[in-house]
Amino acid sequence: VTTPLPVGVIGCGAIARLAHLPVLASLGDARVVAVADADPGRLAAARAQAPGAQGFASPEELLARSDAAAVVIAVPTSHHAACATAAFASGRHVYLEKPLATSVAEARGVVGAWRQAGTVGAIGFNYRQNPLYAAAAAQVRAGAIGEPIAIRAAFSTTATHADGAWRTQRATGGGVLLDLASHHVDLVRHVTGREVERVSAEVRSHRTEHDTAALLLALTGGLTAQLLVSLASVEEDRFEVYGTAGKLVVDRYRALDVGIEPVSAVRSPADRLQRLARRVRAMPYALTKLRSVGHEPSFRLAMKAFVAAARDGRAMSPDLSDGLASVAVIEAAERSAAEGRPIAVAPATA
Ligand SMILES: NC(=O)c1ccc[n+]([C@@H]2O[C@H](COP(=O)([O-])OP(=O)(O)OC[C@H]3O[C@@H](n4cnc5c(N)ncnc54)[C@H](O)[C@@H]3O)[C@@H](O)[C@H]2O)c1
Repeated sequence: VTTPLPVGVIGCGAIARLAHLPVLASLGDARVVAVADADPGRLAAARAQAPGAQGFASPEELLARSDAAAVVIAVPTSHHAACATAAFASGRHVYLEKPLATSVAEARGVVGAWRQAGTVGAIGFNYRQNPLYAAAAAQVRAGAIGEPIAIRAAFSTTATHADGAWRTQRATGGGVLLDLASHHVDLVRHVTGREVERVSAEVRSHRTEHDTAALLLALTGGLTAQLLVSLASVEEDRFEVYGTAGKLVVDRYRALDVGIEPVSAVRSPADRLQRLARRVRAMPYALTKLRSVGHEPSFRLAMKAFVAAARDGRAMSPDLSDGLASVAVIEAAERSAAEGRPIAVAPATA
C-alpha cells in the first residue's frame, strides 16, 4: 500500500468546488492536505469538502507552510502566471488551470520556471481526456475520414458570471478567447496533430467585454479551422472535422458517441449498421457521464493522470508547452481583431 500524494488546491472557486475538490477526494492515491483562497467563505466551503486539510488565505502561505508535493491552481486567470511560477520555484508538481497565462510573455516566464523545476507541469486542457474527443483524435489519426481538410467548431455558453466578475473584462483576464477559445485551439492541435501558423479573428462585445469571437486558423499542411466562441449564447460544444472520406462530429453535450458521416448523403445498409454498433459501444460512456462531476468525465481523468505523473515523476500530456501554444494563438487572434488583418503565430517554444 502506497501513501496518497499530498495535494494542495489553490483557488477554491467555482471549478475547484465543482470538479477538482470532489474528484481529488474520490481518488485513492491522492489526498487534499491544504487549500488556499483569498475569500474566507470560499475557504471554509473548500475545507468542508476536504476534511482535515489545512486552510490558507494566500497561495504564498500554502506554498511556504504546507506539505503538499503537488498543487492544483484554479485562481482567476490573471493570477495564473505568478501563482504557477511561485509553485514551481518551491519545487511542486503543478496542475494549472487553463489558459496558461494572459499573454505569451507571461506564459514564457511560467514555462521557464517549469523547465528549471523539472517537476510535472500539467495544463487544464481536460477535454482532451473526454472520451469523445479522445476517440475523435484516435479516429482522425487512424484515417477514419481520410485526409482531414478542414475543421468547423463552436463552443458557447451563457455564463451567469455571478461568481467571477473578472471574466467580464479583458483587463482582468476575462473574455471568450482566453476562456473558451483556448480549449478549442488546443483540441484543434490535438485532434489534427498540426500547429497553427496564422490567425484571422473578429471579436465582439455583446453582454460583456469580448464575449464573442470568430476565428479562422491556418494550420500546417494546408488545413483550415473555423471557430465560433461565445459567452452569450446557447450551451454548445460541437467540433466537426471534414475529411476526404467523410466527416467526424463531436457533440460533447448532446451525443454519446463520435458521429461519422460518410461522403455520400445516402446512407447504405452498412452505414446504418455501423451507426447502430457505435450506439451500443457508447453505453458504458453514457453511464460514466451520468456519474461524473458536472456530467463531464474528463475532469476526473485529467486529475488521475496528473496524480499518476506526479507520483511517478514522469511527464504528462498535455503540458505547459501545449498551454503556451494555445496562448500564442489567442494573442495572435487579439492582434488580428485589433489590426484587421491575419497575424502569424509566434513560435511556441519558450
Ligand atoms: N478546464 C475547464 O474546463 C475550466 C472550467 C472553469 C474554470 N476554469 C479555469 O479555472 C480558473 C478559475 O475559474 P473559476 O470559474 O473557478 O473562477 P472563480 O472566480 O469562481 O474562482 C476563483 C477563486 O480564486 C480565489 N482567488 C482570487 N484571487 C486569489 C489569490 N490571489 N489567491 C488565492 N485565491 C484567489 C477567489 O476567491 C475564488 O474563490 C480560471 O482560470 C478558469 O479559466 C477551467
